Amino acid sequence: MEIKRIMVVGAGFMGSGIAQVVAAAGYNVVLRDISDALVAKGMAAIAKNLAGGVAKGKITEAQKEAITGRIRATKELAPAAECDLIIEAIIENKAVKQDLFRQLEELCPPQVIFASNTSSIPITELATATKRPDRVAGMHFFSPVPVMKLVEIIRGLKTSDETIQVIKELTDRIGKIGVFVKDGPGFLVNRVNAALRNEVYNCLAEGVATIEDIDKAMKYGLGHPMGPFELGDFVGLEIGYAVAETLWENFRDPKWRPSLLLKKLVASGDLGRKTGKGWYDYTSGEQKPRTDIHF
Ligand SMILES: NC(=O)c1ccc[n+]([C@@H]2O[C@H](COP(=O)([O-])OP(=O)(O)OC[C@H]3O[C@@H](n4cnc5c(N)ncnc54)[C@H](O)[C@@H]3O)[C@@H](O)[C@H]2O)c1
Repeated sequence: MEIKRIMVVGAGFMGSGIAQVVAAAGYNVVLRDISDALVAKGMAAIAKNLAGGVAKGKITEAQKEAITGRIRATKELAPAAECDLIIEAIIENKAVKQDLFRQLEELCPPQVIFASNTSSIPITELATATKRPDRVAGMHFFSPVPVMKLVEIIRGLKTSDETIQVIKELTDRIGKIGVFVKDGPGFLVNRVNAALRNEVYNCLAEGVATIEDIDKAMKYGLGHPMGPFELGDFVGLEIGYAVAETLWENFRDPKWRPSLLLKKLVASGDLGRKTGKGWYDYTSGEQKPRTDIHF
C-alpha cells in the first residue's frame, strides 16, 4: 500500500514536529487541531523551526517554502477521508483518543491506517474504538521530533503484518530509526524511563540529593543529554504523569506507584517549560532552581 497523503491530528509540540518531518520527506500533509488559533500556533512552530534550519545552512529558503507548502492546516476532521494514513498526536487521554478514532472510523475508507503517537496507552485498547484493529498501530516519536531519531513501531494484538510494514517503510523514508515493540503500557522506552524516574523521585523525596545535583549526576555520570528533571520539564509534566498513571493502572505493582511530588506539581498547573515553571523556574528566560516551593 502506497502512502501519499497523511493527516496529523493535533498540532501541538509533537504533531507540529511530525507534520514537519513527514512534509520534509515529500509527503502531502493535512495538519488538524481543534481551533484556528491552535492550528496557526502549530504552523508558526514549524515555520520557526525551519527558519532555524535555514539560518544554520541545513536547508535553503526554497526548501523551507516547499516543506511548508506541502502542509495544509485545518480545524476540520473531514479531510481525513482523503488521506491514506492518520497519525494521531492529541492529548494523552484514552477516552479522548478513542473518541477521535471513532470519528475517524466514520469518515475514512476501510483501507486507511490509523497510527497513534501515544506515550503509553496500549494500542490494542485504542484499536477497539474502530472496526479496523488490523489497521491500527503505534508510531511513537520522541521530542524534539525533527532531532530525535527513534520511532517505536508498536504492534497491537490485532495489528496486521502489512500495517507494520507500511509504518516501517514510512519510518525509513523520513530518515528515522524504527524499533519493533509489542503492545503494552509505556511500550519500551517510556516504561524503562518511568522506572528510572520513579527511583529519581524517591531519591528526591528522601533528600538524597537536590534536583540540580540529580540532573548533574545523570548527565555527567551516565552521559544522559538531559537530566531527568530537565527532561520532564521539556516534555511536559502532565505527560510524564499520564505515563506513570497508565503503568500503575495496568501493572498494579507498587514499584509503578506515581510520584506524589509529580502529582502535586501537575495539580498546581506547573507543567514545565510550557507554563514557565515545573521542577525548575523558567520565568526569567533561564533555567533556575525553584525557591517558591518545598519538596
Ligand atoms: N511531549 C513529548 O515529548 C511527547 C513525546 C512522545 C509522545 N508524546 C505524545 O504525543 C501526544 C501529544 O503530546 P504533545 O506534547 O504534542 O501535547 P500538546 O499539548 O503540545 O499538543 C496536543 C494538541 O492536541 C490538540 N487536540 C486535543 N484534542 C484534539 C482533537 N480531538 N483533535 C485535534 N487536536 C486535538 C490540542 O489542542 C493540542 O494542540 C500525547 O499523546 C503525548 O503523550 C509526547
